[in-house]
Amino acid sequence: MSVHVVEHPLVHNALMTLRDAQTQPKVFRRITIHINLLLAAEATRDLPASPVTVQTPLAPAEGRRVSADVVVVPVLRAGLGMLDAILELIPGARVGHIGLQRDESTAIASQYYSKLPRGLEKSVVLMIDPMLATGGSAVAALDHLSHAGARDIRMICIVAAPEGVDLVQKHHPGVRIYTPAIDRQLNEHKYIVPGLGDFGDRLYGTV
Ligand code: PRP
Ligand code: URA
Repeated sequence: MSVHVVEHPLVHNALMTLRDAQTQPKVFRRITIHINLLLAAEATRDLPASPVTVQTPLAPAEGRRVSADVVVVPVLRAGLGMLDAILELIPGARVGHIGLQRDESTAIASQYYSKLPRGLEKSVVLMIDPMLATGGSAVAALDHLSHAGARDIRMICIVAAPEGVDLVQKHHPGVRIYTPAIDRQLNEHKYIVPGLGDFGDRLYGTV
C-alpha cells in the first residue's frame, strides 16, 4: 500500500482547526507544527536504526538509535511551514528545497528554485507539501528528486484530493504518501473541497 491514511485522533483534532476558516495565521502556524510532529512520526516508523548501549545512572541499557541519513525536502512555499516540526524530531536531518508555484488560472506548476543535498541515493527523503491537489506540483517535485538520485521517498501532506493521489501513484508508484485526509474532489479552480483553502496564504497571512 503506498497511501497511508493517518487515523490518529490528535492528527484529526489538529486538522479540524486548520480547516476552520476562522483560524488565524498565528494559530494556523502552531497547529501546522503539531500535526506534522505526528505525521512525521508515522512516516518514519520503519527508519533504519542500529543497536547501541548507553550507561544509565544504574546500569547499561541496550536500545537503538536512528542510523539513516534523513533528508527533508519542503516544497516552497507552503511546505516550509512543516519543516520545523520534522527538524525538532530529527535535528540531524539534511534539508533540500524545491520551489514550485501553481499558475492561478491553469493550476500548472512551474519550478523556480532547487537546492538539494548530495548523495540522495542512500537517504530516506521526506518530501513535505501540505496540499496534494491535482498532483502536478508533487509529480514535478518527485521527478526532480528521482533525477537527483533519490530512491526511498515518502511524501507527507495534510490534505489530499483523489486526483492528486492517483497522479502520484501513476507516475511514482514507489513513493509512499502519508496523509490524514483524502477529500471529496477538486473544484473548478483546482482547489480541494472541502480542503482548507490556500495553505500558503493562510500560513503566511497573504490572503
Ligand atoms: C500549493 C501547495 C502545493 C500545490 C498543490 O502551492 O502547497 O505545492 O499548491 O497543488 P497541485 O497538486 O494542484 O499542484 P502553491 O503553488 O499555491 O504555492 P505556495 O506554496 O507558494 O502558496
Ligand atoms: N493549494 C492549496 O493551498 N490548496 C488547495 O486546495 C489546492 C492547492
